Amino acid sequence: MNKKITKICCIGAGYVGGPTMAVIAQKCPHIKVTVVDLNEARIAAWNDPDTENIPVYEPGLSAVVAEARGRNLFFSTEVDKAIDEAEMIFISVNTPTKTYGSGKGMAADLKYIELCARQIARVAKDDKIVVEKSTLPVRTAEAVKNILQNTGNGVNYQILSNPEFLAEGTAVEDLHAPDRVLIGGDTTPEGQSALASLVEVYNNWVPRERILTTNLWSSELSKLTANAFLAQRVSSINALSELCERTGADVTEVARSIGTDSRIGSKFLKASVGFGGSCFQKDILNLVYIARSYGLQEVADYWEQVIIMNDHQKSRFANNIVKTLYNTVSGKKIAFLGWAFKKDTNDTRESAAIYVADALLNEEAGIAVYDPKVPESQVYFDLNYLGSRDADKNKTQVTVFTDPYEACKDAHAIAILTEWDEFKAYDWKRIFDNMKKPAFVFDGRSIIDSASLTEIGFKVYTIGK
Ligand code: UDX
Ligand code: ADP
Repeated sequence: MNKKITKICCIGAGYVGGPTMAVIAQKCPHIKVTVVDLNEARIAAWNDPDTENIPVYEPGLSAVVAEARGRNLFFSTEVDKAIDEAEMIFISVNTPTKTYGSGKGMAADLKYIELCARQIARVAKDDKIVVEKSTLPVRTAEAVKNILQNTGNGVNYQILSNPEFLAEGTAVEDLHAPDRVLIGGDTTPEGQSALASLVEVYNNWVPRERILTTNLWSSELSKLTANAFLAQRVSSINALSELCERTGADVTEVARSIGTDSRIGSKFLKASVGFGGSCFQKDILNLVYIARSYGLQEVADYWEQVIIMNDHQKSRFANNIVKTLYNTVSGKKIAFLGWAFKKDTNDTRESAAIYVADALLNEEAGIAVYDPKVPESQVYFDLNYLGSRDADKNKTQVTVFTDPYEACKDAHAIAILTEWDEFKAYDWKRIFDNMKKPAFVFDGRSIIDSASLTEIGFKVYTIGK
């Protein structure tokens, strides 16, 4: 008989831990869910009486939090207490690409995971099921298990891998009706019993046939593989977008034509200025690193090309702006519509906008940013983090606006970096009238009808056309 779970703790209240736990709490009112984080400001924001102020913007999320918070959903900085109480502990901390030492720029940095494992081992007084939620390199579960078993207080641990497949911007939708839930566990009877406990949690709202169970390693590798395949589709269509621009084909038409082949499928074929987000690049780099460390050079090179293509797409978009603006953007104002890595999120990690801005700032352009959800402080943080120039220079060259019309006023060109729906509804004639002439639009998301912009008088460049 598997153990019936009544108390869950989740370490890490970020883009994955926060929404996932909010939905588990919403769908399982009989389970007490406590989300803990070391970051006091983040926890305070999750506890803000006005749920519109929670730190993660996702359509529908504030309503879920409003429903469950205080009932069976709690946010706290008391990590030890929550670990001690819980029967099941999710690890949902960040696993960024390493910025130092061996595997620098490629491998995942597991220091936060290790710290969590050590903390659990120190605190736990009774048996626990530990669930890896963060995307991790294959065989991390083994490391976690080692730490728990060798430093713990003699209690038993079962480790499960339960990678999260939600996409930002549609997190609540994805969590409510996932294509599948994946759970990996040890093939031992104890492992299978722990696995059944977690299946039971999800089965409160996810049909059983959508809950896939595998061994630990398959589960860990499946997450990296899913992201690598998705990112590969984007790089494939982006590679073709450049060819379309040279040949007169239209990448949207090509995508539609191939997408109707049921073997190919229509999703994830949207040419863009390049994929961003916290997962794709990190996971592929990780895959490449793992392949290299097993001596699989061809496998590593194959997947690395997906990243090379993505970097190329971002830099060719920036180069095209410079080239079109008569080979100089020095002292010119370029308005950026969008800074987030995709629409309906305030997340900017690895956003293409950061890299396009960086390239244009190197050419001494002035940049005016407008994004409906990203605050000014985040824009400067992202540029300063990149470290290409000092913070004062970023502050002088970049201005962040809360009004899109102000951002575009007197600009020589507009670059569309995120596909926010509201951009389509703007009064483009009014924008045109207040810009320097000739007025250019560089649509990196192919969201605005180029014919109507051209009719207004804009000179339009659309990715893949
Ligand atoms: C991704 C995976 O989709 C998700 O399953 C996993 O759990 C986490 O990583 P996410 O990064 O949140 O999710 O967003 P996603 O919708 O996958 O988009 C990633 C990037 O690819 C965005 O920058 C998006 O704009 C870009 N993209 C996506 C394209 O450029 N074209 C497309 O056709 C699809
Ligand atoms: P993700 O997108 O994977 O959710 P985030 O960076 O948004 O990543 O969230 C990870 C969270 O984990 C951060 O808020 C960070 O403060 C938290 N965190 C990292 N290590 C620990 C730890 N040892 N204990 C508690 N929280 C942690």
